[in-house]
Amino acid sequence: MEQQEILKNDGGGQSAAQERKGAEPSAAAADKASFAGTGEYVASEELMASVNIAIALKKPLLIKGEPGTGKTMLAEAVAKALGKRLIVWNIKSTTKAQEGLYVYDTIQRLYDGQFGEEGVDDIARYIKLGKLGEAFDSDEQVVLLIDEIDKADLEFPNDLLWELDQMEFYINETKRTVKAKHRPIVIITSNAEKELPDAFLRRCIFHYIDFPTPELMEEIVRVHYPNVEDNLLKNAMEVFYNIRAIRDIRKKPSTSELIDWVNALQIGGISADEIRAKLPFVGVVVKKDEDLELVRHETNL
Ligand SMILES: Nc1ncnc2c1ncn2[C@@H]1O[C@H](COP(=O)(O)OP(=O)(O)OP(=O)(O)O)[C@@H](O)[C@H]1O
Ligand SMILES: [Mg+2]
Repeated sequence: MEQQEILKNDGGGQSAAQERKGAEPSAAAADKASFAGTGEYVASEELMASVNIAIALKKPLLIKGEPGTGKTMLAEAVAKALGKRLIVWNIKSTTKAQEGLYVYDTIQRLYDGQFGEEGVDDIARYIKLGKLGEAFDSDEQVVLLIDEIDKADLEFPNDLLWELDQMEFYINETKRTVKAKHRPIVIITSNAEKELPDAFLRRCIFHYIDFPTPELMEEIVRVHYPNVEDNLLKNAMEVFYNIRAIRDIRKKPSTSELIDWVNALQIGGISADEIRAKLPFVGVVVKKDEDLELVRHETNL
């Protein structure tokens, strides 16, 4: 399928698919700063286009998709392909937007004051930039990953709207404005646990990473294990996609689980024929008791 054509290279020049087809590189691919996957990350053509459009429009790229479909790794790949530093802001249920800008360490200041430390009057010493602040303050353009934004409360994305639009914020305590020297490339991931506010969505370019087709999946596994035996991979993938297709399965195994399984099968010296007959190391792909029973039932094992 044309749309699923896989493009990957080491971050510049012609993509693998273009080389295969002998086609002219697109305008975006010809641009040195465009993203076309890396030697370790396989991106579909649609995903590459979304990354490049978000960069061109200078908007955050919001990535959704099933767990293990390469959302977090995409940011690493973009940073690597474009030769930029990656700053990761991991969002937890307790994370507040303010922490990404800066925190004022009043406790340390009080402590220093009690022990007669020098420079206690210099409040700037106690202002610690957060990940967003660090990205703005960087002398070079960076890639900023805001990972799992849906973990925080609903106010979190709304509280960041202004900063992400304007690429600046004001530090009240020191009367300093931190303005981005170079607009960071912002990649935001979400597992769709919560709906994000419309005002936030309006400001992002959205991309849903579809679950890889078998063709794309084969490429993905092969970047991790280039020497995997053809039949072993073929049979493992067949069983894997069959498990995913079982009705009522609670947790569908993901890309990362297939990669781990292929690794386990290789390490265990399992032959291609044994895969279907014995389902070796099934716990690497199936993680719930109920699913295990279902899988055994469906595969008559
Ligand atoms: N397109 C891909 N190319 C290469 N490796 C991939 C790809 N997609 C997934 N992987 C593999 O799967 C692993 C999991 O990817 P990643 O952690 O980025 O998933 P995720 O979507 O962020 O998952 P979660 O929602 O659980 O955080 C990666 O470490 C990598 O080994
Ligand atoms: Mg992730």
